[in-house]
Amino acid sequence: MNADTPRREDLQLGREIVGRINELAAISEDPARLTRLFLTAEHRAAAELILDWMRQAGMSAHMDPIGNVRGRYEGERDGLPALMLGSHYDTVVDAGKWDGPLGLITAISGVADLHRRGLKLPFAIEVVGFADEEGVRFASTLLGSRAVAGTFDESVLSVRDRAGISLREAVKAFGLDPGQIAKAARVRGDLLGYLELHIEQGPVLEQENLPVGVVTAIAGATRLAARLTGMAGHAGTVPMQLRRDALAGAAECIHVIEELCRADASGLVGTVGYIHASPGATNVIPGEAAFTIDMRAPSDIHRERAVTGIVHRIEEIASRRQLGLQIDVTHENRTAPCAPWLRAQIAEAIAAEGFRAFDLPSGAGHDGMAMIDVADVGMIFVRCRGGVSHHPDEHVELADADAGARVLLRLVENFRPQTGAQ
Ligand code: GLV
Ligand code: MN
Ligand code: MN
Repeated sequence: MNADTPRREDLQLGREIVGRINELAAISEDPARLTRLFLTAEHRAAAELILDWMRQAGMSAHMDPIGNVRGRYEGERDGLPALMLGSHYDTVVDAGKWDGPLGLITAISGVADLHRRGLKLPFAIEVVGFADEEGVRFASTLLGSRAVAGTFDESVLSVRDRAGISLREAVKAFGLDPGQIAKAARVRGDLLGYLELHIEQGPVLEQENLPVGVVTAIAGATRLAARLTGMAGHAGTVPMQLRRDALAGAAECIHVIEELCRADASGLVGTVGYIHASPGATNVIPGEAAFTIDMRAPSDIHRERAVTGIVHRIEEIASRRQLGLQIDVTHENRTAPCAPWLRAQIAEAIAAEGFRAFDLPSGAGHDGMAMIDVADVGMIFVRCRGGVSHHPDEHVELADADAGARVLLRLVENFRPQTGAQ
């Protein structure tokens, strides 16, 4: 630690952030398992709380037509181009409380700190709480950030959740107008950059004994939905050789996905995180099995080849087992590199806070993957205990939350737009 580095001795930012993380985590569809899916009543309650925090921090704030919460802190004069800060406020099922909210709450606390000091910068700051980063409810993901980036695909409005509700219906039931989603978009010249602070969700910073790190790139991802159709039948009477068991077929597919990824030395990962078998009774041979596949790799070409290979193997399995197959890509994102000029400023802020600036890639997806279409992207990672994430044991130490907040605030206060940008 550099002794000359100005420090906040009292962890004031960290304490405010951790308090709010806990407050937000209390808003859950299931009191026993933190779950806050896109466009639910709990999602709405969380949005209202965040809007309130934004206003207390001196921002004007509103909800946009896709359900993102948006705050704006004007600069030295009104209407200046903005530096955008953000992260998401939806969660996975049985989530940790830091994934998404840490970055959003830290950004709000940073602006509140500027506001308390009466400090205005030569640019505006916009804070966004993205409505759907996890993509749990409607197979497609990054819907909030895609709306802001102007790349929202209207055809997604027809996609239905597992209860049969379309995205269009859910947006309306939330009190928003799906016909207005295009109005959420910003254009590149409006934004000086997009910065996101997020928990690492992996163990590298812990291994390096560092509270924060500089993200180099966000790994690309492909999500698929597969459905195998066989023949339901009596579990006691149909001989094994005559069965067309869809779930047994799905099990073979899952095994193949795991084998292919395990045999790959380049960082390819594949996950089947959801499966549903019908009709779903102990004494009935499953006639149908639907499952999802999530594939990621540091290299886009490698991921694309792996996806093609896996689809081919699944086709073979379905054909050999005489199963019908439908397989669709529900989400695809290329690798998003973080902008070198933003990485340099993040590294500078980290060093000024007395820490070693350490580069690492992100294996997890983030809203920056969509925001890259409208702004250069930079990301700060904060250490999380054991690298555990997408799990209720996800944890960030108070001192690390505070360190992340100090880095973000320093970065914002010293922010220099890229030469040639406005
Ligand atoms: C989001 O957390 C993702 O990487 O799937
Ligand atoms: Mn996240
Ligand atoms: Mn997540």
